[in-house]
Amino acid sequence: MNISEQAQEHMKQILLADEAVSAASDKAERDEYRLQYHVMPPAGWMNDPNGLVHFKGEYHLFYQHHPYSDKWGPMHWGHAVSKDLVHWRHLPIALAPTEPYELGETGGYGCWSGSAVEHEGELTLFYTGHVDGRQPMEVQCAASSTDGIVFRKHPNPVIHSSPDEENIGFRDPKVWCHDETFYMIIGSGKAGKGKALLYRSEDLEKWEYMGVAAESDGTQGDMWECPDLFPLGDGHALILSPMNMEGVKNLYMTGEMDYAAGQFTPQVAAKLDYGPDFYAAQTLMDDQGRRILIAWMDRWGSSMVNESRGWYGAMTLPRELLLKPDGTLAQVPVPELEKLRGNGESVSHMLLEGGQTTSWKTKDGQGFEWIAEFNCADSTAHQLDITLLASEDGSEATVITYIPKESRLILDCNRSGRGEVQSSEALLPASSGELLKLHVFVDRCSIEVFVNDGDVVFTSRIYPAVMSGGLQIKPEGGAVILQSLKIWSLNRI
Ligand code: FRU
Repeated sequence: MNISEQAQEHMKQILLADEAVSAASDKAERDEYRLQYHVMPPAGWMNDPNGLVHFKGEYHLFYQHHPYSDKWGPMHWGHAVSKDLVHWRHLPIALAPTEPYELGETGGYGCWSGSAVEHEGELTLFYTGHVDGRQPMEVQCAASSTDGIVFRKHPNPVIHSSPDEENIGFRDPKVWCHDETFYMIIGSGKAGKGKALLYRSEDLEKWEYMGVAAESDGTQGDMWECPDLFPLGDGHALILSPMNMEGVKNLYMTGEMDYAAGQFTPQVAAKLDYGPDFYAAQTLMDDQGRRILIAWMDRWGSSMVNESRGWYGAMTLPRELLLKPDGTLAQVPVPELEKLRGNGESVSHMLLEGGQTTSWKTKDGQGFEWIAEFNCADSTAHQLDITLLASEDGSEATVITYIPKESRLILDCNRSGRGEVQSSEALLPASSGELLKLHVFVDRCSIEVFVNDGDVVFTSRIYPAVMSGGLQIKPEGGAVILQSLKIWSLNRI
């Protein structure tokens, strides 16, 4: 088949698939695991967030999308927009594979991840054209739009090949503007070390290679997917998704960026999120000067993908990223999410005795949020268990455990329901002090835990059979002072 026949065949598939998509959509709508207030594909598959941008008064969220099935396949760019980061409207697919550099014969092809940048009123998407088995397999491409809805592909590729033939992977371009020059970093790796390659351009068309801006210290993965480098506070931050790094699926580094030398020097490196379902995070800068982050709220290899539900994948809640004086990052849910709050209740200054369980209920167990503050200085408990989504017989439950002496927080999802058994934990930074603040969002099959104003965050998918709202708090070995607790049912978007 020549290319135009392939494109025709592709269009035919699109038309045929329309019917399948609306059937899948109906099925998806009836699914008990459809989330209430997170972004999901209307039908089909979703992975990485792409092209996050605030353009002409709206937040744009593009995403890796396979519209014709609930499994990963030839990648398209799905598209949703929002005025408030809470309510999202789905728009037509922004990019579909139609050209030789993104069209192949097996499933491993398409418009892979990338970013968006505004220039002179136009929105330009940069993405990787990927075709398994093609030489070169990955090239960088661009497509522009004036309305932010319909995109015209440039004479692609804009970058024809990797600067070094020995590099493994050459994908996920993230573009930004600094001092009237555009920069692009691209995820790659060589000789066992993940790398972020840096390019520069005056016009978004001609790109000059500047070198390796940052690389693994030898322990941080052998290929870096979805790097994002941006100014934050007085410095710069680099976030990335390392491949083959033991137990770590996301990383950040903060430090200094020397644009003339094309070098990022990290001073601090740590996990961005401690849960298992946080990948390919990307950020945007909005009109209020906030650095907003959204990640794919899932993981590669989850067994839940084997269930045919007509859809798969979701995004995390949008979080504002903050640089703290010690160079670490904090993530806080954007305040716009308060719009979701329905019925609420609150208590303050309660002494919870050791060995006793105190319970609070929300009206609706599908989606809820709570904020609890414990005074650890005056508490004698050696452990604090907070149980969520518990079944009547106690066989199913999700438990947050805090061990004050060790400053250790555990999110135990071993009995959460279906899917892989998971437990994650983190040590809270010494700067956390004597107050433990937990801010938690549950949405049918997800939990996001923000500890001490986002110093530590856990994101996990859970698949409970019961969707009971509320929480139970039980201190062990002594009492704990619950300074305040607020709890809300959350509305559907
Ligand atoms: C990350 C990733 C990217 C790639 C995309 C393909 O999840 O593997 O590196 O561009 O997904 O869908």
